[in-house]
Amino acid sequence: MPISFVAAKSVPDDVDAVIVPVFTGPTVPEATAHLLDVAHLRASGFTGKPGTTHSVPGPNGTTVIGVGLGDNEKLTVDDVRNGAAVAARAARRFARVGTTIGNAPATLDPKAIGQAMAEGVVLGTYKFTKLKKPGEVDALTSFTVAGGPKARVQAGLDRGARIAEAVVWARDRVNEPAGHMNPTDLANAAAALAKASPALSATSWDDKKIEKEGLGALRGVSLGSSAPPRLIRLAYEPAGAKKTLIFVGKGITFDSGGLSLKSGDGMMAMKTDMAGGAAVLAAVAACADLGVKHRVIGIVPATENLPGPSAIKPGDVLTARNGTTIEVLNTDAEGRLVLADGLSLAVEEKPAAIVDLATLTGAAPIALGRRIAALMGNHAEFTEKVKRAASSAGELVWELPLPAMYRKHIDSEVADLQNIGRPGQAGTIIGGLFLKEFVGDTPWVHLDIAGPSRIDEADGEYVKGASGFGVRTLIELASSFR
Ligand code: BES
Ligand code: MN
Ligand code: ZN
Repeated sequence: MPISFVAAKSVPDDVDAVIVPVFTGPTVPEATAHLLDVAHLRASGFTGKPGTTHSVPGPNGTTVIGVGLGDNEKLTVDDVRNGAAVAARAARRFARVGTTIGNAPATLDPKAIGQAMAEGVVLGTYKFTKLKKPGEVDALTSFTVAGGPKARVQAGLDRGARIAEAVVWARDRVNEPAGHMNPTDLANAAAALAKASPALSATSWDDKKIEKEGLGALRGVSLGSSAPPRLIRLAYEPAGAKKTLIFVGKGITFDSGGLSLKSGDGMMAMKTDMAGGAAVLAAVAACADLGVKHRVIGIVPATENLPGPSAIKPGDVLTARNGTTIEVLNTDAEGRLVLADGLSLAVEEKPAAIVDLATLTGAAPIALGRRIAALMGNHAEFTEKVKRAASSAGELVWELPLPAMYRKHIDSEVADLQNIGRPGQAGTIIGGLFLKEFVGDTPWVHLDIAGPSRIDEADGEYVKGASGFGVRTLIELASSFR
């Protein structure tokens, strides 16, 4: 059951648990209604260290859950999201939970606080249980936020709940094993989104149409698998829209590497290789619900990458939608191939800008770890907009350059391009330079999410498994785009 979020004047009397923010700063404004609770928490040894919680019995059989938030003067919206997630994990066995934001610093926008809280609570308590025997489910069904201007807080809670729903949708698709989520399954998932919202339309091209339309790179990657590829398109086109944003997501529903086969360990988590595609579809659907003013189109080239009797071989040359020929020296660099066709299609629609999201290179997490995505672009102003969107959405990105002097690394002897660079040299940048060949002058940003698409331990709003990374940034970008 989804959690309902309510802004209220005060924490209702019938809650089962109260979450009490505990600060450590030089000035410690405790919420007046909970002075006693804070005193109890401190007396029982809780210092309010950020990211920690501590529970003590409260009045009338309730439970008081302290959550450490650090110095209140330095509190950020990201701290709120993080704290809400940590506290919600401690409160998940209670049905009715309340908290207060009355003592949050005035510098924080109450709507942003509400949004971050709902995001933190939903995402921090997320679990993928679909394939397990029915077990214990979280009791948490109502979450009341007291203090602050009620209408603003409620607007934030509603927005945060919708955004979190989109992130959950993406996580669910990504956590689904490849055997349950092949390209046709992903296309059906997009169609289901469109069915649920009159503002959305979904189409998908099958293998015949993919061949006929000249998507030779996507088709080439698909040849090793008996599961047919799909080119998925999910469109939100509100009346009166003037600008179009296109999001392109890598939709490799399983990446074995193809004939350039990965190791067993290397392919263990490769059901995640459609995380960009799932994030794109989820974001487009949320944009429709949130009434974004622009046209927002998602394009997801989807296929498995398997070795098989018909698989492409290292050295084969594929022709992408825009006529560029590509020598495939390593069949494991398949993401850039399917995106070559996806980006070519996007450019044909003459959008104001394109963002692609892809679990593209193993080199990205080596450089930036599992929480930060690599960002590259061809247009300084648009790049700034995407960075700002990521920052206000609380997703971490770091820009890498696309230096012209590395372009020769993907010169091919026989074709226009080859799909790999030089061993051990700038793998993530080479991926970006390759994609850049397919966007022309259209403002474009590439997000390599190979690191943050899957998280190995619970941390703030992340839990172990698929993260849904990118959904929040794309929604924020479309919402704030001018
Ligand atoms: N899907 C992988 C990238 C990846 C690796 C994502 C690890 C998440 C974790 C991608 O298709 C791939 O295999 N890339 C190759 C490119 C190389 C052959 C140029 C890689 O990074 O090894
Ligand atoms: Mn690969
Ligand atoms: Zn891949």
